[in-house]
Formats: sequence, C-alpha cells, structure tokens
Amino acid sequence: MSLDTRLHAPVAPALREIQSPIRAQLDRVPEEIWRIVQADVEIVEAANAHLRGMRGKLFRPTLLLLGASVEGTPEPRSIPLAAVTELVHLTSVVHDDSVDHSVLRRGQPTINALFSHQVAVLMGDFLFSKAIAELVRLGDLEPLRVFTQASNEMTLGELRQLAAFDALSFGEADYYALIRAKTASLVGAACEMGALAGAPRFRQPLRRFGERLGMAFQVADDLLDYTELETVTGKPSGNDLREHKVTLPLIAALPQMTVAQRRAVDGLFADPMPSDADIADVVAIVTECGGLESARQRGEEFAAEAAEALAAIPASDVRQSLFDALGYVMERRS
Ligand code: IPE
Ligand code: IPE
Ligand code: MG
Ligand code: MG
Repeated sequence: MSLDTRLHAPVAPALREIQSPIRAQLDRVPEEIWRIVQADVEIVEAANAHLRGMRGKLFRPTLLLLGASVEGTPEPRSIPLAAVTELVHLTSVVHDDSVDHSVLRRGQPTINALFSHQVAVLMGDFLFSKAIAELVRLGDLEPLRVFTQASNEMTLGELRQLAAFDALSFGEADYYALIRAKTASLVGAACEMGALAGAPRFRQPLRRFGERLGMAFQVADDLLDYTELETVTGKPSGNDLREHKVTLPLIAALPQMTVAQRRAVDGLFADPMPSDADIADVVAIVTECGGLESARQRGEEFAAEAAEALAAIPASDVRQSLFDALGYVMERRS
C-alpha cells in the first residue's frame, strides 16, 4: 500500500521556507501519525480516512522539529513526538468543531458534520488515547508530563469559554487567560518538547517563545474569523459571533461603541440564531470602532515578546525560521 502523506496543506511560501531546515523530518510526520492511529474498526477507519484527506499546516510539528534542531541534528524520537503534538492538536479540533457546531475544517466537512457529534466525541478520545499510548511506548515520563499538562489546560480553556454565560462581560484579562489555556499551552508544549528532543538547555526560552507565539496565533485566528472568507481559511467565517464567542476584536471595540451600535451587538447576543446580515453588521461595527486594529496590535506585541525569548538561542538558520514563524503567524490568511 502506498503511503498517503496528504496531511500537508498547500502552504504559503513563507511557511514552506520556515519549514525548510526540517523538511526531511517533517515529511515523515504524516506517515507516523497514521501509523499511531491505525485501527481495524470500520467507523474509525472511515473517520481516519477522512482526517487523512484534510490538509493541516502541521504548524505545531514544525515548531517541535525546529526546537529540536537549534543545536544541530534532532534526536530520532523527535518524529514520533512531532506526530503526538499533531494528534493532540487534531483531538482538540475534532472536539472543538463539535462544541462550536462548526461544519467546515481545512476546507472539508468536520467529523461532526460528516458523521455525528457522538462520533466526534469518541474519535477525539480515540486520537488522544493513541497519542498517550505512543508517549508510553517512548518510555520517558517527561514528554508524557508536558503533553498531559497541555491537554488538561486546553480542556479547561474550552470549558472556560463555554461557561462564560454573560459573554459580553468577558474582559481582556479573561480573554488572555482563555487563549493561554486553549491554544498557547500546546504551542508552548510543542516548543518545549522540541528542546527536550535535541536542545535541553534551551527548554525555558523555547517554552516561553512557544507560549507567546501561541497567544499571537490565537489572536490572529480570532481576527481571521472577522476578516477572511471561508474559501481562504477553510473554516466558516463569522462563526465566533454566530456562537456568541467574545474575542479580542469585539472586546477592544465595545468601549468605543455608540448606544445604537451597542444595541446592535446586544441584539445579536440575545438572538440564539443570528442571521448572516446581523453578523455582517456587527463585524462592520467592530471594524469601525477600531477593534481589528487594536487586536492586531496586541497580537504583534505577543509576537515581539516571543522574539525576545529567541535572544537566548544561538544564531542559525533554525533560529531564523523560528523568528520568521512570528511574522508568518501574524500575516497568514489561513
Ligand atoms: C486551528 O489551528 C486551531 C487554533 C488553535 C486556532 P491551525 O490553524 O494550526 O489548524 P490546522 O492544523 O492548520 O488546520
Ligand atoms: C481554538 O479556538 C480551539 C482549539 C484549541 C482547537 P477556535 O474555536 O477559535 O478554533 P477554530 O477557529 O475553530 O480553529
Ligand atoms: Mg472552533
Ligand atoms: Mg477560531
């Protein structure tokens, strides 16, 4: 059987360049993932085949492999560890799409849309337990500790978001705590794991770099939900407002709103099924009130903090790639 390595997204040139120092290792990650999650249960095979046809950016494995390469050749275990990072991420998106009632991911139907919410819950559990089994196979407690801690934080982050019952009183500090938990924890873990698999003395700066980069990554993602078409991102636009999720653009815009603008926002949040036109109105209000600009600026600040953490790492093409990842995260359109 020929191996399917289509997990790669048709990447923007910048991402391809960032990946170039670790291209050979990264190209082995998709086959590693499908080795880990193999199962001869029909429904799992069907869901795996669907996930295999979805092309993600492999951003977290990229960071792990770069981190593992800052002092030269990474350890061989960096490849299964990179696969585990992507599997933990994949678990989170399969569950997240079910929680967010989202029907599109990577330009393809989500597991909940194509199969059911039940299958999404169980497939997420399956992927996660396979990832943990792989860590057990590797026989080192430290990666197990790093990934289980990240998964626990991610879950709490998603729960925190769900439990925000008075969404519009959700402030900037709440938002940062949320994105630190649901996104930065895994990006930080990927970079930290990289250090453990090749450059242990840089564990702390790489962790710090990943956490700040993860914050910028989620701010940028939340901006894309406001600004970009689903044909570009591969996931539904405006879904955060549709789901009454308050993210940084709206938080930054709220204090600048007129009474009439605020009334429109309150109206959308009181409506269980807001229309596309209502969502477009609120997007226009947020834009007019400077919410997109403020969020972008805050994202750039997180990226700058990540760049500072790189100063501890010796200059090389790998460090340059880590640095370029910051610009990529803020400029990406998908
Ligand atoms: C999506 O992550 C989930 C977030 C944390 C915003 P990515 O944008 O890395 O998704 P894929 O893996 O490339 O599809
Ligand atoms: C990221 O939040 C959640 C994960 C950690 C998977 P979002 O809900 O904004 O992610 P997308 O936009 O669906 O990818
Ligand atoms: Mg989502
Ligand atoms: Mg999003």
